[in-house]
Amino acid sequence: MNQYIVEIEHVSKSFPGVMALNDVSFNLMSGEVLALLGENGAGKSTLMKILSGVYLKDGGTIKVFGQTIEEMNTKKAQELGIAIIHQELNMCAHLTVAQNIFLGREITRYGMLSVKKMNEEAEKILTSLNIDIHPETIVGDLAVSKQQMVEIAKALSCNAKILIMDEPTSALTSKEIEELFTIIHKLKKEGCGIVYISHRLEELENIVDRVIILRDGQFIKSMNYKDTSLSEIISCMAGREIKEKFPRVTCDLGGEIMEVRKLNAGRMVRNINFKLYAGEIVGIAGLMGAGRTETTRAVFGVDQKENGEIILDGKPVKIEKPMDAIKNGIVLVPEDRKKDGLCTKLSIRDNIALPNLDILCGKTGVVNRRKENEMADKAIKDLKIKLPNSDVDAGSLSGGNQQKVVVGKWLRRRSRVVIFDEPTRGIDVAAKIEIYNLMNDLKKQGIGVLFVSSEMPEIMGISDRIIVMCDGKITGELKTEEATQDKILKLATSFDKKTELKS
Ligand SMILES: Nc1ncnc2c1ncn2[C@@H]1O[C@H](COP(=O)(O)OP(=O)(O)OP(=O)(O)O)[C@@H](O)[C@H]1O
Ligand SMILES: [Mg+2]
Repeated sequence: MNQYIVEIEHVSKSFPGVMALNDVSFNLMSGEVLALLGENGAGKSTLMKILSGVYLKDGGTIKVFGQTIEEMNTKKAQELGIAIIHQELNMCAHLTVAQNIFLGREITRYGMLSVKKMNEEAEKILTSLNIDIHPETIVGDLAVSKQQMVEIAKALSCNAKILIMDEPTSALTSKEIEELFTIIHKLKKEGCGIVYISHRLEELENIVDRVIILRDGQFIKSMNYKDTSLSEIISCMAGREIKEKFPRVTCDLGGEIMEVRKLNAGRMVRNINFKLYAGEIVGIAGLMGAGRTETTRAVFGVDQKENGEIILDGKPVKIEKPMDAIKNGIVLVPEDRKKDGLCTKLSIRDNIALPNLDILCGKTGVVNRRKENEMADKAIKDLKIKLPNSDVDAGSLSGGNQQKVVVGKWLRRRSRVVIFDEPTRGIDVAAKIEIYNLMNDLKKQGIGVLFVSSEMPEIMGISDRIIVMCDGKITGELKTEEATQDKILKLATSFDKKTELKS
């Protein structure tokens, strides 16, 4: 019979200015997959960090395998068989895959690192998980999705009996997600208890036995998955009923704002041509690695262009670096918020002020503090960013709230084109709708919105027109009315014969 392997009772945790967890109870059985759900900032990651010894609890009790653990720490958690895959990637980018997998528990021989042995062992683990990555690859050279798979391999290599996955799929391709689900099914059969945190509620169907919902740091409900429904889960998370998942606004299409003509930039951006009109949202669909992010980066001037033109309001503009793009009214919300979108050690106010110093300094060259505070307060209010105050480090916010800060810093500029690269990754249902509303607001103001997303329902639900990319090229364009998942997928996989042979 199944039994509780984790029993958490009345646990509380405060950070300066926030009560992240308030008298929360939680339990986990062996052989079950439990989804821990809640809006951004609900306390999911904090609760799991307490269980895995990253944070100390303020009060309450934790029992693991029936044994009360007074002071959990990461070492004790590891000894007990608790492994955690953190929400934000935690790899050392300059080390190899094998070095990352064995970090802190390196294999040695005669007091020396046994590199060969570690590579062999890593290879075994990767192969057993069907992950096609060489153990000697430098992690920083891997795509985010592959890094995530290495993170998963690392957690599993410790023979975990309790496995916590904090948003494991947010950066995975659909094939990798399937592989992950196979791994989860296997671990479940072996009696491992799995805590699964995700904002992609649709995927729960395939794996989850039970859900526990937190809201504002409090326990709300535990339900068997088969006895509940998505709409019940969503209302428990939000504390209210949410009717429309994809709010769509219609407005008249204006003139052409931007044209990208014959753009080439590296292997993943080949002869890209498209137009963007005022008052429309254009989705860029495709599989991961199709060159969508690279295209947005080339347009925004992060990566060098080989050739091609960007025409704004009928005039060619020279964009060699992001500042040129910003000055011309093109802004980007990047895919990797931690690396490219935020200075995690700076306050929220500073993060929002940073790209807007030209507005905040005026002619004097001195930052106008009043304006700076107003700007931050407005972004926090408009996007409902959950935080104690705008002085806290951006890095201490919950994942979804960090994303909102990245969006928030562009709101006060008079932009012509706003590019969003996977803007709703890791964001809860209600906050997703806020982001869609924000895109719709931009659209209503006559701004052109470009929107990269890997989630088909979202791209079909929000865009007016969909461009599909595959292997660095645009393979088709669809009007939303005619778009179906099948049509998009077909275009997203129309590889050239030549490239298919190569891969
Ligand atoms: N290290 C920290 N310092 C200060 N505040 C923190 C810290 N970690 C978390 N918090 C705060 O605790 C609350 C709960 O955050 P937590 O990260 O647990 O949320 P979450 O449910 O995982 O959200 P998300 O879905 O966005 O990842 C938030 O208000 C967050 O800002
Ligand atoms: Mg979290």
